[in-house]
Amino acid sequence: MERLEWDQSLLIGIEKIDAQHRKLFELANLFFESLAMTKGPGLRHPILRRLVAYVRTYFADEEDAMRRMGYPEVDAHIDRHKAMTGHIHELIRQWDNGQSVDADALCRFLRQWLSEHIGIEDKKIGTFYNAQNTSVSAESTPNTI
Ligand SMILES: [Fe+2]
Repeated sequence: MERLEWDQSLLIGIEKIDAQHRKLFELANLFFESLAMTKGPGLRHPILRRLVAYVRTYFADEEDAMRRMGYPEVDAHIDRHKAMTGHIHELIRQWDNGQSVDADALCRFLRQWLSEHIGIEDKKIGTFYNAQNTSVSAESTPNTI
């Protein structure tokens, strides 16, 4: 499975969230590597759990940021987060129950989700935030939330 490559086009312009996105890419790549190295759940399972735990923290932070800035599409965005976590938890549950999980399909899902969600939906948050910020004052606080 090819690595997920980070590039500048994925920056949304909010420092904390951008840092979390990079970390998500790192963890996803670690997971892809673990799949390539082992066939059984031994190594890949804890790495997937670590990724999911990080996703949960990151979603909570991003949702908090959206609420504080008064982002108008907050509810729809949170629904997308819920759909993502629901899908992953279902796969983990299948794994825990000893059902076979299509690892390639899971990787494709993660890859597509991370790139599209960050590149399209999260970017809208950054655009909104930075428009608000520049309209308040050109000398306002740096782009951190
Ligand atoms: Fe998001």
